[in-house]
Amino acid sequence: MVSALSYAQQHRDRFVDELKALLRIPSVSTLPQHREDVRSAAEWLLAHLRDLGMTAELIPIDGGHPMVYAQWMQASGRPTVLFYGHYDVQPVDPLDAWTSPPFEPTLRGDDLYARGASDDKGQVFGVIKALESFLRDDGRLPLNVKLLIEGEEEIGSPGINRWIDRHARKVAADFAWVSDGQLYAKGLPCITTGLRGLLYTEVEVRGPSHDLHSGQHGGATPNPVNAVATIIAGLKDRRGRVAIPRFYSAVRDPSPEEKASWERLPFREEDYLRDLGITISPGEQGYGILERRWSRPTLDAHGIAGGWTGAGSKTVIPAKVVAKVSMRLVPEQRARTILRAFEKKVRQLAPPGVEVEVRELAGGDPVLLSPTAAPVQAATQVVREVWGATPVFVREGGSIPVVAKFDRVLKVPTVLFGFGLPDDNLHAPNEKFHLPNFHKGIETVIRWTERVGG
Ligand code: BES
Ligand code: MN
Ligand code: MN
Repeated sequence: MVSALSYAQQHRDRFVDELKALLRIPSVSTLPQHREDVRSAAEWLLAHLRDLGMTAELIPIDGGHPMVYAQWMQASGRPTVLFYGHYDVQPVDPLDAWTSPPFEPTLRGDDLYARGASDDKGQVFGVIKALESFLRDDGRLPLNVKLLIEGEEEIGSPGINRWIDRHARKVAADFAWVSDGQLYAKGLPCITTGLRGLLYTEVEVRGPSHDLHSGQHGGATPNPVNAVATIIAGLKDRRGRVAIPRFYSAVRDPSPEEKASWERLPFREEDYLRDLGITISPGEQGYGILERRWSRPTLDAHGIAGGWTGAGSKTVIPAKVVAKVSMRLVPEQRARTILRAFEKKVRQLAPPGVEVEVRELAGGDPVLLSPTAAPVQAATQVVREVWGATPVFVREGGSIPVVAKFDRVLKVPTVLFGFGLPDDNLHAPNEKFHLPNFHKGIETVIRWTERVGG
């Protein structure tokens, strides 16, 4: 291990240069015009992993983006770890809010700015560089390794979720490591013990068969924009609760111990409000802000497309409007069940005369991970050594859909440790990655791999 660590130390600059090359590939999974770029990123990783001496392949996803799979299984008698990350990224708009172009990685101070720098190329590449440090230095790894890097995480992981159900044996492992997250605060690392699930929908509302002049027909015809507003307004009540029948019936509260541990975390409501530029946190009454974000489900609308949204005024009653609405789910809610209840409620809320269609765009179940599993305990030790602080156990309000599959189908204990920072601007303009964290992340993976490899 000592020599793997010094290898990583010696090659720091090259590691960063290579990461920049990966960041230059605009692998935006949700936009059809980037389909070939997504594939290029997969091929770039494939070539890179083969070059390190791993057996690697692209696993095609019907109608979707390929997964990169690599393995090194020559540590007989040793355990097998499954590493996971994603190489796809979010769209970059609004482009004019970026200080430097999103796909021209730019260093300012110790921060590397680019789309995907923190979420998740920087973090998954850190794992690859940790593996390289063993393989190049010693020709071998301290345990067996399977590495799965998907290209559809940012669109809800439809392909990998189907694939794991059918190919569980191929990725069977003793434990999993997911590098796709953040420290709790600068200087305070965390291990994540829960992720919210996600149900992302598109609600299409249709009124007249074609667009109409609102002066000629307003007051006498259904208006899909008004209808969408009515529907969205009816999905949550004034006290912050989701107004879908039985929405909360499967929700399990965190244990008193877990809640008490959140009370002890450094968190100041004033700082939270200031950082976000808001004046109140109008969430569900009776729950603290961390609970609202980590252990309570919620519902948000993301956009309404249709009608006139350009400059100036156009008096139109559009034929059709589409709204994007998602729900964050917590244990033990299930995306399947909630989808049916949501659709029913949307239909009830729709005013007379409009037609409604609900489509599921993405879905993933919530998950809880054991903080006491041996690989998690090993991670706790290693994180303390590398980061100079004892990690706190937290949950995360965001989603990584495949982690629930790791839990329920593969049944592997999973370590969720990310080395981004809370202000990395994920999914937003000026995404960045703090390079000292890149190098510490590599060191963390090297030390953990060594420790759990025995
Ligand atoms: N890496 C994030 C989730 C995350 C965010 C973990 C912050 C830890 C800290 C992941 O890439 C993500 O953005 N997930 C999406 C999933 C969705 C598009 C299906 C999310 O949560 O919105
Ligand atoms: Mn991510
Ligand atoms: Mn993301």
